[in-house]
This record gives sequence, structure tokens and C-alpha cells, in this order.
Amino acid sequence: MTVSPITVCVTGAAGQISYSLLSMLAAGNVFGPEQPVTLHLLEIPPALPALAGVVMELLDGAYPLLHSVTQTADPSIAFADADIAVLVGAFPRRAGMERKDLLQKNLPIFKRQAHALNEHASKHVKVVVVGNPANTNAMVLAAFAPDIPRANISALTRLDHNRTMAQVAARLDVPVQSVAGVCIWGNHSSTQYPDITRATVDNAPVFDKLGGFEIVARDFIPTIQKRGAEVIKARGFSSAMSAASAIADHLRSWVCGEDHIVSMAVPSDGSYGIKEGVFFSFPVRCMGDGVVEIVKGIEIDEFSKRYIDATAEELYAEREEALALLE
Ligand code: NAD
Ligand code: LMR
Repeated sequence: MTVSPITVCVTGAAGQISYSLLSMLAAGNVFGPEQPVTLHLLEIPPALPALAGVVMELLDGAYPLLHSVTQTADPSIAFADADIAVLVGAFPRRAGMERKDLLQKNLPIFKRQAHALNEHASKHVKVVVVGNPANTNAMVLAAFAPDIPRANISALTRLDHNRTMAQVAARLDVPVQSVAGVCIWGNHSSTQYPDITRATVDNAPVFDKLGGFEIVARDFIPTIQKRGAEVIKARGFSSAMSAASAIADHLRSWVCGEDHIVSMAVPSDGSYGIKEGVFFSFPVRCMGDGVVEIVKGIEIDEFSKRYIDATAEELYAEREEALALLE
């Protein structure tokens, strides 16, 4: 049986993250070895020459599953009939920029792209927002793309989830695949809460082995919260290889399903007292075919509640700032 190609739009396609991501998409590492892929690549006009070089490399990769590639600076062409949209393109944070400045630069981009996505993408398009501030950009996108079901829009916190898995494994000197039960709550920012209170290794609880409340608060949580900044300090650029790998994981889980709990920023439905209207990272179950369920009924202890409340407050404030800037 011939499988029809899936159309994947990637914005910011000449940037660092996309440079790692595009070969994974073309090689079948995301949607499987039977699924051909059509790539629609969006860039701003000054980056089109660099994008042309990336496209040369994609063709030189001779990927059997790569059906066709379109490169453009026109969002209406890039989003046309997209089944999946990976929104990586964003204005980068420059030295001295406050979060509000970053919002001011990026909100108009996501508002414009929302209109184009709404008009031109498949009505079933699944969107993952990567460009920062990712949760609030996703909120803006949802607000200006009224025909796309909100459940089809998400923001990436899988990188934080993977960082948490990897840190548990490294600290206990166990294989990363033996770790389970971790999740990320809240914003993809330094207020995020990497929750390891229910972490297990080979099904055995390990919170006490990781030091218990005091050491986890002093060392483990800040390590994850500041990991992005540490990578920037070391590399001079933000994480790209690990971000691309996390996008691949996020999409694979979302589309193909996942047998363990992962983390995704999704529209809050009021679970755990998080107000509706923000995109909040929750522990989720990916049931396959794009169906995602927030894991309900977790008992939240006082320690975790303080962190969850703090990251929620940051997101509420970002939402207010974004709405004021958009007026
Ligand atoms: P980069 O600067 O290397 O690439 C971004 C690309 O986006 C550039 O090529 C730029 O020309 C393009 N671009 C800018 N505005 C655009 C627009 N309106 N339409 C289309 N393309 C546009 O940056 P990067 O390292 O690839 O990171 C991209 C974004 O991802 C940043 O905002 C970064 O902070 C964020 N990020 C998020 C996570 C996460 O886990 N959510 C992790 C790492 C990085
Ligand atoms: C990361 O988590 O690595 C990035 O979001 C950091 C950044 O500010 O780009």
C-alpha cells in the first residue's frame, strides 16, 4: 500500500534547531520508516540564501522518505495544507533584553503566523511552538487561529522533561530508560517545576536517594531550571541538538502514541487549579492519533504546590502583558 506524504511546515528553517531537526524528519526518525514527508520551510527574506544551502544538503542526503521540499518567505505557502507545524522561528533574546522586550518582538510574529495557519493549514493541523517565550506564543497563536482546535496547539517542554530524566539517570548512575514518573509543570522558563517526587528507577521510588526535599530544592530543581542558560553560557548559542531531539520526541509521542507519561504545554482545562487561558506544561498521556490527556488525580504535596503556583503566576502575568501589548 502506498502511504500519502505528511506535510510538515518548519519555521525558522535556516536556524540552529532546524539544522538538526530537518534530517530527522527526512530520515523517518519521527513519523516512522513507512511515512513519506513533504517539507515546507519558512524563513524571513534575509535568511533565504542560507535556507537554500540547507535545502541543498537535504537533497544531498538522498532520503528515500523525503517526498518534496518547498522553501519560502511567504507564510501562506509555507502553511498550505500543513498536517504538522513546528514553529521554531522567533526573534532571539539579545543581551540586555527583558522578557517583556522578547514578548514585544515575538507576539506580532505569532499573531501573523496564526492568521496564515488558520487560513491555509489543514483543519486538523497539529502545532508545536518552540520559539520563546513558547507557552505565551502558543497562547497568542491559539487566540488568533480560531478555526484550529485549541487541543491541536502545544508548546515544547519535552526538552525539560528529557533533561530531568537524564539528570536522574546520571545522579543514580542508571540507564535513562529505567527512569519514569518525572514531569514538568508550568512555563518553559526558569520558573518551571521539574517534579521528581514520584520518580522511579525500574519501578522503585528514588526521591530519597536523590537527596529528599532539601537537596532537591537546593540542587536538582535549579539545575533543570537553569540548564538552558548554562548551555548558552558554554556554547554561546542556545541548545539546538537537544531541542531538535525533543521536538522529534514530542511529535512522535503526539502522533504515534507513547506508553509512558511525558510532558507537554497544553491549554489548561482547569486541572490542578491552573486557570484556563494559559498554555501550561502538565504530565500527559499521548493516546495516539493526536489525542492527549492531562494526567488527573495526582496528589500534589505542599513542596510541589509552591513551585506549581509560582510558575502559574508567571504565566498569568505573561498572559496579561501579552494581551496588553497586542491591544
Ligand atoms: P536561530 O536564531 O538559530 O534560528 C531562528 C531562525 O528563525 C532564524 O533563522 C531566523 O531567521 C528565523 N526567523 C525569525 N523570525 C522568523 C519569522 N517571522 N518567520 C520565519 N522564520 C523566522 O535560533 P534557534 O537556536 O533555532 O532557536 C529558535 C527558538 O527556539 C528561539 O526562540 C529559542 O529561544 C527557542 N528554543 C526553545 C526551546 C524549547 O525547549 N522550547 C529550546 C531551545 C530553543
Ligand atoms: C533552552 O531551554 O535551552 C532554551 O529555551 C533557552 C533559550 O533561552 O533559548
